[in-house]
Amino acid sequence: MSQCAAIIAAAGSGERFGAGFPKALISLGNKTLLEHALGALLPVASEIVITAPAGYEDQIRALVGNEITVVTGGSTRSESVRLGIAALTSNCEFVLVHDAARALAPTHLAQSVLAALLAGDVAVIPGLDLVDTVKNVDADGFVISTPDRSRLRRVQTPQGFNLEVLKAAHATAADATDDGVLVEALGKKVRIIPGTERAIKITTPSDLSFALSLLGDTSQFRTGVGVDAHAFGQGRDLWLAGLNWPNETGVEGHSDGDVAAHAICDALFAATDLGDLGSNFGTDRPEYKDATGATLLQETFTRITQAGYSISNVTVQIIGNRPKIGPRRGEAIEALSKCLGGTDVAVLATTTDGMGMTGEGKGIAAIASVLVTRQG
Ligand code: CTP
Ligand code: MG
Repeated sequence: MSQCAAIIAAAGSGERFGAGFPKALISLGNKTLLEHALGALLPVASEIVITAPAGYEDQIRALVGNEITVVTGGSTRSESVRLGIAALTSNCEFVLVHDAARALAPTHLAQSVLAALLAGDVAVIPGLDLVDTVKNVDADGFVISTPDRSRLRRVQTPQGFNLEVLKAAHATAADATDDGVLVEALGKKVRIIPGTERAIKITTPSDLSFALSLLGDTSQFRTGVGVDAHAFGQGRDLWLAGLNWPNETGVEGHSDGDVAAHAICDALFAATDLGDLGSNFGTDRPEYKDATGATLLQETFTRITQAGYSISNVTVQIIGNRPKIGPRRGEAIEALSKCLGGTDVAVLATTTDGMGMTGEGKGIAAIASVLVTRQG
C-alpha cells in the first residue's frame, strides 16, 4: 500500500485576481500555477486528484496527463476537497490537501508534512509567524482585543492528514477556508510545522509579481515609458492627472490635454506592444475625439487587460512651473489609480530650473513609466 495521496484544490474562479479565467490556469514562468503545484507533489504522492473548475476539466486533463485524476470541483473550497476525497481510489493512509494557488510551495515542504504524519501526528499544517500585530475588531471598526502575536500563525498548504481523520472532518457539509479547521472541530490534535514564504497564496496580480521574483524569472515583466507635452492656451480649463484644476491656465489640444493621463496610456501601450495613443485613439477613431484623459486611461486599462497583462505599478512625473502638485498629490493618485483598476500609482512633480518649454512657463509635460506582467 502506498502511503500518501494528494488532492489539489484548483476549482476556484480567481475573482480577486480578475484574469477572466480560472486562477489555476494563470502562467507563472513557463508553467501554469496548477502545473507548479502538481510538480511539487509528484515526488511525494502516489495518487493525485485535481478538482477542476466546471468546464475546464478537459483542458486540465490535457495539461496534466493520464496519470492524474481530474474531477469537477464544487462551489466552495471545502466542497471541492470533499469531491476530491470521494475520487481517491487507492487506500493510502495519508493525504495531502494543497491549493493550486500556492504554486511555489516546495517539495520539501510536502516532505516535512509527510514526515510529521509518519511520526504519528494525524493533522499537520505549515505555518509562519506574523510580523504585524493583529486586532480583533467589531462591526463599527473598534478594537475588541489584541491577540498575543507570538501565539498566532499564518497557515499554508499542503496540509497533511490521516485519511480517515480527514474523511471524518469532511463528513458534514461544513465550509472552511482550510481543512485544519474541520479537523480541529473533531477535537483532534493539529500540529503546526514551519512553513515557507515560497508557499505564498497567489491571490492578486501583485502576488504573481512576487512569485515571479521568487522564481527569479523576469521574462514576463515588461516595462514601458511614455511622454506627453501640451502648450498653455488661454480660455481653457486645466485637466491634469484626472483632476480639474480651477484658476489654472489650461492647455491647447483637441482633448482635455491631460498630459499625465496621456503619458501613462503611452507607457502602458509601449510595455504591452499595443501601439500608442495615436494608433489606439487617433483621428480615425472619432468616438474618442473629445474623450477625457481619464476615459482614455480606463479604455487603455481595458485593452491591456484583454490582451492578458496586469499592471504591477505606474509612476508619472509632471514637469512644469504650475500647478503645484503637492497639495493635491493624494487626490491625483486616487483619480489615476481608479482608472487603472486600483493599481499602485506614484505621482511626482518637478520644475526644470527655468529652462526649456516647461521652465519658460509655456506648457506642461509628463513622463510615465510602468511595469506590467503578462499572465497569458
Ligand atoms: N478552490 C476550489 N474550489 C472552490 C474555490 C476554491 O478548489 N470552489 C481552490 C482554488 O482553486 C485555490 C484554493 O482553493 O487553489 C484557494 O482558494 P482561493 O485562493 O480563494 O482561490 P479562488 O477561489 O479561485 O480565488 P477568489 O477567492 O479570488 O475567487
Ligand atoms: Mg476563494
